[in-house]
Amino acid sequence: MPLLKLLSDGKFHSGVELGEALGVSRSAIWKRLKTLEDDLGVEVFKVPGRGYRLEEPLSLLDAERIAQEGGWPVAVLASIDSTNAEAQRRLPQQQPPFALLAEHQLAGRGRRGRAWVSPYGKNLYLTAVVSSPGGIQKLQALSLTMGLAVIRTLQQLGVEDACLKWPNDVLVRGRKLAGILIELSGDPQDVCQAIIGIGINVNMRLADNIDQPWISMAEALGGLQDRNQVASLLLREIDSLWQIHRRSGFAALRSEWERYHGWQGRAVTLSSGVRCIQGTVAGVAEDGAILMHVDGQTQAFSGGELSLSLDHDS
Ligand code: BTN
Repeated sequence: MPLLKLLSDGKFHSGVELGEALGVSRSAIWKRLKTLEDDLGVEVFKVPGRGYRLEEPLSLLDAERIAQEGGWPVAVLASIDSTNAEAQRRLPQQQPPFALLAEHQLAGRGRRGRAWVSPYGKNLYLTAVVSSPGGIQKLQALSLTMGLAVIRTLQQLGVEDACLKWPNDVLVRGRKLAGILIELSGDPQDVCQAIIGIGINVNMRLADNIDQPWISMAEALGGLQDRNQVASLLLREIDSLWQIHRRSGFAALRSEWERYHGWQGRAVTLSSGVRCIQGTVAGVAEDGAILMHVDGQTQAFSGGELSLSLDHDS
């Protein structure tokens, strides 16, 4: 949106200046500002005599730059229910690989039926779609592989203390920085598609509706981050890791994954909603299952509804 672009520097702009830049009246500017607030949740401060400004600069997405630097066909949407849902809708007409990003999600989806908080222009909401001619078998443990794509991206940008929590949360200092939700489409026995949704908290500073401890890259690194750079590097890593995964499976990436596994050797409880199992994390298997020492035996557990929590004295 052109008005938001003008305001994205975080400086004051008078109604007259904005009106002239966009060729509209001051009252039209006022209406557009109201839309920004009501529809997109962007807070705009008005100070009499000085004009309008955002609470802080916004790093807006640039589709052309991301496509060029990231090496993917990319579309950037201003606002959408969920980039994963939109990718699913586009699949019949659009051939993978392609990537979608949004400035804002109205119904961002997380794992296990949770919502993913997606304020306008703050974080990265990205879906990359790839096709697997070998059916669902080839997609086993892909979400763990994609966790590594996030870790590698963060490393390049200076977030050195990021780690993985099985199956695919990315944590920094024990707080969640990124999450991954992979959904499938097509024929599980033949050609199918992985809809790889990744959310990274990049510049978000406040959120009152997240029910777990979280952190952003801005907090971890001490300053506003360039979301285009994060998106481009992430797409490069998604591509190179997908090439490895489709050829050799997660087996080829397992030792790198375990190196970043924050809870390796820790005492944990694994919950499936109805059952809880206590044990010590031994690692991950080649099919992506979590390996745990339970009652003197190593056991493997897998399934999308499972979640791990650290035991207090661990
Ligand atoms: C999790 O619960 O940890 C997974 C979060 C995944 C969020 C991303 S944001 C981009 C994509 N679109 C969605 O609706 N969800 C994923």
